[in-house]
Amino acid sequence: MKLLITGATGLVGSKLTDVLRSAGHQIHYLTTRESAIETEADFKGFLWDVRSMSIDAACLEGVDTIIHLAGESVFQRWTDEAKERIMSSRINSTQLLINALADNDHQVKHAITASAIGIYPDVWEGQPLKENEVPPTADNFLAEVCIAWENIGMQLKELGLKHSIVRIGIVLAAQGGALEQMAKPVKLYAGAGFGNGKMWQSWVAIDDLVRIFKHIAEEQLEGVYNGVAPNPVRNRPLMETIGEVLDKPVFLPNVPEFMMKLMLGEMSATVLSSQYVSSEKIEQSEYVFQLPELKEALKEYLK
Ligand SMILES: NC(=O)c1ccc[n+]([C@@H]2O[C@H](COP(=O)([O-])OP(=O)(O)OC[C@H]3O[C@@H](n4cnc5c(N)ncnc54)[C@H](OP(=O)(O)O)[C@@H]3O)[C@@H](O)[C@H]2O)c1
Repeated sequence: MKLLITGATGLVGSKLTDVLRSAGHQIHYLTTRESAIETEADFKGFLWDVRSMSIDAACLEGVDTIIHLAGESVFQRWTDEAKERIMSSRINSTQLLINALADNDHQVKHAITASAIGIYPDVWEGQPLKENEVPPTADNFLAEVCIAWENIGMQLKELGLKHSIVRIGIVLAAQGGALEQMAKPVKLYAGAGFGNGKMWQSWVAIDDLVRIFKHIAEEQLEGVYNGVAPNPVRNRPLMETIGEVLDKPVFLPNVPEFMMKLMLGEMSATVLSSQYVSSEKIEQSEYVFQLPELKEALKEYLK
C-alpha cells in the first residue's frame, strides 16, 4: 500500500510510520516544517500550511490510503488563542485534505481520521461506552473539538472514499505523551492521584494503537473504532501501578480537584474527566492486543 500520513512526525505518527515501513508499505507524509522533510525510497515528505490553506498536491501521487493525525497539542493552557489553534488545526487541515482530493486526480480509496475518547461523556460506574454512545451535543471543549473533527471527516465519504475514525485513548509510550508526565513525580517519590482518584482512564499502548491503525488500513475497515486497550483502570490504581513498576511507592494523598483546576485551568478537564471506553468493536474485527494488561504495558515502557 502507499499511504499519506499527516502528523507523521508526532508521537503516534512516527511510530505508525516505522511499523508501516517495516511491513513494506510506502509512506508519503505532510508536515508544516521544511526541516522535517525527508526523501527516501519508501518515505517522502511534503509541505502543507493549514493557516494559508496550501498543500503540495504531489503528496497524493500513487496514494491509496490517508491517515490523518495532525493537530495542535491539547496539552497546553487553553487560552482563547490556544483553543482556536487546537480546533482550526484539526478542522482546517481536514478541509485542506478534502479540497486537495476534490481538486486533483487521485487513487485514494480509504481515509482514516483520528479523534479522541474525549468525545464521550464522563462515566463513573456501569459498562464501558461503545462507539454509538456519544451524546448529540458536547458539554466541554474537548468533546466540541472531537465532534467537529469527526463531522468534517465524514465529508470524505461524500467524495466516494471509505472512511473510518479511531477515537484514541490515553497513549502509553516510552518517551513523550501522558506516561512520561505521570511517571515524573513518581520517580521523585511525589506521585499521587488526581481529584477523587476514581476517574476511569482508558489507556492504550502505543504499539497496539499503531497496529490498530495498520489493521484498519490493511483490512479497509469502515466506521468508528475506539483505540483503547481492553482493561481501563481508575486514576489512583494507575498511579500506584506506575509506582509499583518503578519501585517507588505512591503514598501521597491525591491532588485535590480545585488545585488541579488552579494549576491547569480549563485544561484540567483532560486529567479530571472519567472516560470508561470499550475495546469490544476493534477486538471483534479480529484485532488481537499485544499489551492488554496495564502492568505489562508499564513494564514495557518504563523499563
Ligand atoms: N497522544 C495521545 O495520548 C492522544 C490521545 C487522544 C488523541 N490524540 C490525537 O492523536 C493525534 C496524534 O497524537 P500525537 O500524540 O502523535 O500528537 P503530537 O505528538 O502532538 O503530533 C501532532 C502532529 O501534528 C502536527 N501539527 C501540530 N500542530 C499542527 C498545526 N497547527 N497544523 C498542522 N499540523 C500540526 C505536527 O506535525 P508537523 O510538526 O510535522 O507539522 C505533529 O507531528 C493528535 O491529533 C491528537 O490530538 C492523541
